[in-house]
Amino acid sequence: MTQMKKVVVIGGTGLIGSKAVKMLQDAGHEAVVASSRNGINAYTGEGLEDTVTGADAVIDVSNMMSFDKDALVDFFATSSRNLTGAEQTAGVRHHVVLSIVNADGLAANPYMAGKLAQEETVAASSQAYTIVRATQFHEFLETLAGAYATDGKVKVPDIDFQPIAAADVAGALVAVALGEPKNGTIDLAGPGRGSFESFVRTYLEAKGDHSPVSSDAAVDYFGAPVVTGSLVPGGDYIEGRITIAEWLQA
Ligand SMILES: NC(=O)c1ccc[n+]([C@@H]2O[C@H](COP(=O)([O-])OP(=O)(O)OC[C@H]3O[C@@H](n4cnc5c(N)ncnc54)[C@H](OP(=O)(O)O)[C@@H]3O)[C@@H](O)[C@H]2O)c1
Repeated sequence: MTQMKKVVVIGGTGLIGSKAVKMLQDAGHEAVVASSRNGINAYTGEGLEDTVTGADAVIDVSNMMSFDKDALVDFFATSSRNLTGAEQTAGVRHHVVLSIVNADGLAANPYMAGKLAQEETVAASSQAYTIVRATQFHEFLETLAGAYATDGKVKVPDIDFQPIAAADVAGALVAVALGEPKNGTIDLAGPGRGSFESFVRTYLEAKGDHSPVSSDAAVDYFGAPVVTGSLVPGGDYIEGRITIAEWLQA
């Protein structure tokens, strides 16, 4: 019989966090839903010590949306410092954080700079950890298509893309959290690799939006210059199961 474990999910009300909480509960574990709106704040430290006491693992899927690099770096670094510190005091076995594939190569993008600061803070702590880097979620295609649209036309970077369903990301995070700390990084990507352009077109067509979609090597990724492999794993990775077609159908 699987031993029941207590796992704290920081950001447990969000897209990934809520799925991870449900998967943990369905597997018979105790999942603690932590978010600033329920009084557990990774950035200010409010409620952290009590929440992580007795936990076997903490999964950090908190998020901040901003275009301000300094604010993002401060949020992700401070939150990670607070979390790993509280976990060490409480004797938590494993800290798992969700980052983004190739975040270190894309730090000209303010959000990626924040994620890199998060990774570096976790790796520099003395807490046992695993950094899970995922590619862009299927669920993020809506935001991406909107961000690259001008006057009814969508022009995206001319690069490879390999999105993954949020459910696959949550499942992988849960499996990692229940396993041994790697004190390193694991990459996660979806089951199909193609052009960024083709995924955006598939997504829009499925929504009944027939806007023309093209690619251009001069288009960057929110401030970061990109080349073909910038958003996909360069080496080994864990592959998600849910294709874009299955996800769209669901
Ligand atoms: N979008 C992508 O394609 C992609 C790809 C790879 C990795 N990721 C990473 O995936 C992670 C999760 O993304 P998501 O889309 O699931 O996020 P989300 O839906 O925006 O949820 C964010 C969660 O963080 C909580 N939160 C925010 N500030 C907090 C704080 N100070 N203390 C505690 N909880 C806090 C929010 O709840 P409250 O508001 O109540 O605090 C919410 O539960 C992010 O770190 C992101 O970088 C995203």
